[in-house]
Amino acid sequence: MTVVFADVTGSTAMGERSDPEDIRAVLGRYYSIAREVVAEHGGTLEKFIGDAVMAVFGIPLAHGDDADRALAAALMLRERVTADPQTTALRLRIGVNTGEVVAARETAGGDFLITGDAVNIAARLQQHAEEGAILVGERTRRAVAGAFRFGDDQRVAVKGKAAPLSAAALLEQLQGRRVQRAPFLGRATDLAQLDLVARRAFGERRPQLVAISAPAGTGKSRLVEEFAARLGSDVVVATAQCLPYGAAVTFLPLRGLLRGLLRTGADESLVVPLRKAFITAGHNEEDAQRLCTIIGATLGDTRETERRDRDEIFAAWRLLIEVLAAHEPLVVVFEDLHWASDTLLDLVEHVTVSRTSAQLVMIALARPELLDRRPTWGGGRRNFTSLALEPLSSDTRSSWASSCAPTRSTGALARRTTTSSYPTRCTRPCSPASTVFQPRSARCWSTPRSPAAPHEPRQ
Ligand SMILES: Nc1ncnc2c1ncn2[C@@H]1O[C@H](COP(=O)(O)OP(=O)(O)O)[C@@H](O)[C@H]1O
Ligand SMILES: [Mg+2]
Repeated sequence: MTVVFADVTGSTAMGERSDPEDIRAVLGRYYSIAREVVAEHGGTLEKFIGDAVMAVFGIPLAHGDDADRALAAALMLRERVTADPQTTALRLRIGVNTGEVVAARETAGGDFLITGDAVNIAARLQQHAEEGAILVGERTRRAVAGAFRFGDDQRVAVKGKAAPLSAAALLEQLQGRRVQRAPFLGRATDLAQLDLVARRAFGERRPQLVAISAPAGTGKSRLVEEFAARLGSDVVVATAQCLPYGAAVTFLPLRGLLRGLLRTGADESLVVPLRKAFITAGHNEEDAQRLCTIIGATLGDTRETERRDRDEIFAAWRLLIEVLAAHEPLVVVFEDLHWASDTLLDLVEHVTVSRTSAQLVMIALARPELLDRRPTWGGGRRNFTSLALEPLSSDTRSSWASSCAPTRSTGALARRTTTSSYPTRCTRPCSPASTVFQPRSARCWSTPRSPAAPHEPRQ
């Protein structure tokens, strides 16, 4: 588990000069940037303490590359806060640390309460960081070995610790590092079934919906990654990643989906390509503008979303997906739908009933508990495939395990939070063993057919 603490300096100085309303607006903007950046990297925003933000990566779901995600998020947070005209005066001090923590779920809000040494150390590093710097603890640096560049080693005294801790400033992310990727095993019939669905959708222009259901760690995401990797380069794959705190940020997953659909980078404007998509589909300027405003309202301020009519939002999203799938083959993936809020689930149910003849495959991945909430999920639809994924057979698993050296341990917590039933990392080259590492933010918003990032636990 990796903890990121980010505090803003400059807000006190600003406080002396500015109107409290202005400061609130600037900090509000800072929090919303932080919330977005953390979500885009698959982390969980824990709490705002004063002006500070605490985010955790690896709980409730370990991705295996959580330290990488945390550092990539810290860099992006700093970059976006500096680039945003509203927050550009703020200076961040960030501390990052990896280690064991105690996580308890609060019954009321479903939030996690994270405590432990790793959290205290991250906070301490944050206090020691120079203005604008990201100070990283030793374990995090070891976990991301080679993927980031750091400054010189520094010693940081921490209360209660006899020896000072080793820390270093994060300088940049190194591109193109290759990491070992465990080979994909078995699942031939599941893949064949998905291939067939895609053939029908693309060949016969009949939109298809596939629901893949299985407990955490069974291999839902990996199966879809493999499926996506086999598609032609003309197929666009866009993912809406639902988050464990879904109820608080209803439509946040749609931002990633939209970037994937429009193939825009994380910092590019969405409005221009969005308008173009509607105009290319034959809508007039006025209509296109109206649709852009409705879709835009689901991406930004929640209050704005609440003012909008739900049916209007749902219809605009369905239209957008149909419009895009009319021109090019499209795969829309709804990841971890069990975490979606009820409203987002309603929206997904709405957009997955496609009325047109489009080259469209929609895939919804969820744990079985989704059916407890929505027993009728998927039922009664045309062109609907339900796939209950079984764990890989023990033969398949042991044949793979025997071709790989034993997994290195990441400590008790990682074992508790990684629910995968697979050996997690091949420590000697297995073919096909390598893929280019892409942080989640890159994969969500990247080029067509870019499958999901490897979720290999890396330690
Ligand atoms: N068929 C497979 N072959 C090899 N590794 C797999 C396979 N399916 C899943 N894994 C690995 O197991 C872990 C959990 O899989 P994942 O797809 O994230 O599960 P889920 O999405 O169901 O929670 C990942 O590290 C993934 O790469
Ligand atoms: Mg998954």
